[in-house]
Amino acid sequence: MAKITFIDSTDTPRTVEAEVGATVMETAIKNDVPGIEAECGGACACATCHVYVEEGWREKVGEPSPMEEDMLDFGYDVRPNSRLSCQIKVREELDGLVVRTPERQA
Ligand code: FES
Repeated sequence: MAKITFIDSTDTPRTVEAEVGATVMETAIKNDVPGIEAECGGACACATCHVYVEEGWREKVGEPSPMEEDMLDFGYDVRPNSRLSCQIKVREELDGLVVRTPERQA
């Protein structure tokens, strides 16, 4: 298990337990974390699971794939630390991960 903290656009944090092997998006949906819609169900085809990875975590989380980059173009208020949470797999080393959800999804 790994702990993931989601901070919403009003700075409210929610820390939940994530299963290793699940995605960050699946973890959010399972725990009723607001701010992530995931309309396509994790197929990298909607950009409504957009999150911002906190600075200290960017390297560990890694960079988006070219396919994810293309889909991110459809996200709302995309920044250099933007990722699609359905494309981030939970690993042991991501225990303690902090991501922020945008003010709204695309
Ligand atoms: S859930 Fe659709 S792109 Fe992530």
